[in-house]
Amino acid sequence: MIVQVKNGKSVLLRKLTPDDFDKLSYYLQNLGPETVKRYGPHGFDKLSISELYQYPEQYSGYIAGDPETSEIIAYSIIKTGYLETDGNRLQSYGFTPDEKTDCTFAPSVADKWQSQGVGNNLFHFMMYDLKSKGFRRIILWGGVQSSNLKAVNYYLKNGFIKLGQFEHNGMNDDMVLEIA
Ligand SMILES: CC(C)(COP(=O)(O)OP(=O)(O)OC[C@H]1O[C@@H](n2cnc3c(N)ncnc32)[C@H](O)[C@@H]1OP(=O)(O)O)[C@@H](O)C(=O)NCCC(=O)NCCS
Repeated sequence: MIVQVKNGKSVLLRKLTPDDFDKLSYYLQNLGPETVKRYGPHGFDKLSISELYQYPEQYSGYIAGDPETSEIIAYSIIKTGYLETDGNRLQSYGFTPDEKTDCTFAPSVADKWQSQGVGNNLFHFMMYDLKSKGFRRIILWGGVQSSNLKAVNYYLKNGFIKLGQFEHNGMNDDMVLEIA
């Protein structure tokens, strides 16, 4: 699917395939320091990526590409269910995570493409797929740093609500979205 974003450029949205692993590793290893402080759901090397995506029923990737350069400019990962490390904390808010109908989400956009609508477009593209797979809720992967206003706004904008707050290298918010 091709969409136009705020800088006037076209962007290609699609699902990640094994043919993309080299480019994904390059994308992740070239994220700027501000973004890396906020984003790191898994190792950025090709081996870590290949190991994770050998379980397609557990993990799905979604990417945005620049048709002019064929480079990846945004990447989101979805894990089926929830992270073991998040389970107890989520339950402490009275929220009962579900291994089958919940999924866990971590988005990123390349620094120079941020705030251009790429993240929103990739989110809507991904939602279409998640609905068709029968997921009912989306949980944030390890929450979001409360100081990360860009991401907090992005989640609120897309309908996420805050479940609670926790301390881990500063304050973080757990958020969830009920898929309509
Ligand atoms: C968070 C992130 C995925 C959002 O994607 P994006 O492409 O930059 O966001 P979009 O341009 O699609 O904007 C979507 C919404 O995000 C918020 N947003 C985007 N840029 C913002 C900025 N500079 N300041 C405040 N809010 C901002 C707004 O609510 C915006 O909606 P609006 O355009 O209607 O105002 C992206 O900025 C990113 O990768 N950040 C670094 C990594 C990260 O923080 N990941 C999340 C870890 S929990």
